[in-house]
Amino acid sequence: MRKRIPADATRLGMYIDGFDTSWFKTPFLRHHFEIKSPDQIEKIVESGVAYVYIDTDKGLDVVSDKESKEPPAQVKKAPATPASDAPKKDVQPDDKAYTDYILAMDDMLQVDKLSLIEATSVGFELFVKTGMDIVPLTATRNKKGDSVITREVLNAPGELLISRSDAQKYREYLTEAMNAVSAAQSQVSKNMLIKENAKMLVHDLFNDPGSPAKMEACKDTVENVISSIIDTKGLITNLFTVNKHDYYVYTHSVNVSVFSVATAIALGIQAEGELFAIGMGSLLHDIGMSTIPPEVLHKPLQRLTDFEVGLLRGHVYEGLDIVKLYKGITPETLLPLLEHHENLMGTGYPVGLKGDKLHLSGRIISVTNTYDQLTTSRPGFNAISPFEALTYLRDHKDLYDADILKEFITVLGKSGQ
Ligand SMILES: [Fe+2]
Repeated sequence: MRKRIPADATRLGMYIDGFDTSWFKTPFLRHHFEIKSPDQIEKIVESGVAYVYIDTDKGLDVVSDKESKEPPAQVKKAPATPASDAPKKDVQPDDKAYTDYILAMDDMLQVDKLSLIEATSVGFELFVKTGMDIVPLTATRNKKGDSVITREVLNAPGELLISRSDAQKYREYLTEAMNAVSAAQSQVSKNMLIKENAKMLVHDLFNDPGSPAKMEACKDTVENVISSIIDTKGLITNLFTVNKHDYYVYTHSVNVSVFSVATAIALGIQAEGELFAIGMGSLLHDIGMSTIPPEVLHKPLQRLTDFEVGLLRGHVYEGLDIVKLYKGITPETLLPLLEHHENLMGTGYPVGLKGDKLHLSGRIISVTNTYDQLTTSRPGFNAISPFEALTYLRDHKDLYDADILKEFITVLGKSGQ
């Protein structure tokens, strides 16, 4: 369970799951870690951060209720000393709404409206997000008090979210709902199950990138994706999120993995190991983003400082460091991760690889990653349509492999995009 506690109530063995302040105001590079030394406690207290979040499933709880008592709102004040190596820019007062939004989003999970079946009921709360507003969905209740999925729910403007703590209930709902559909619909329903589960899994992994169990589960997911695409001869309907508006790293990761595997198959790649490396490397391509503070990750692009741009670009090597910790990750699996921001001209990063220096999997993911980014809104960037995104890629033959793009367009065409 995630709890907000006073910073001076921290103790050895607790698992820190975030700080109740801007990342810049803490001396820690990572905001998710176990407290293993008194020095870390000293650092937390000296940083001036008033409150921290702990995860009691991963570490010790507070020793008494008094310590976990909810603090009065006014104690959310600026800490005394920002980290010495952090930029001096502070969060401005008018950024408060934005900061609150970022913190709230950290605890939410975007769910696909298409996964909800009309007239069924759900044992979890649904929220609607429009822009930066997140409000509980007012739904009809059944006798048990569960929300009923009505046409109004399915047509709610904006995206549907659930609380992260309700992920298991959503999984159970999905399994039941997808099992109840007709045989004719079984494969696309199965795809929905694979995809929504994959999103939750990646969400979990990014919050706990050191978990071998979660990494193993990701391998199973990639295998399921590959089998589904092969069994349906390239049909990826429901395997990726179509009606997405905003950027979520877990939705993006699953989309890019599905696009990359399907494109590789369309290009004639049949070797199981090769497909797995492309799928797994694509699923993990942005895992280094888990080290980026949410305030930077979700900041409008135009407002990023040079320092923050450098931090964001560092996600490639950060990701490499994380993935290398796992046994059984082949060098081929690392290629999509290393090369997804490279391009044929050599103007990408982190290396600036040019032309045939890019591996095939790198050339595939540079297309699929760019497409998914262009069709997703982020603060400071409004998504463009699939057609416009493909036109952009086609018009930049110097950057993106035209043969790969052709196959990718075929893949999207089969799914009705
Ligand atoms: Fe990336």
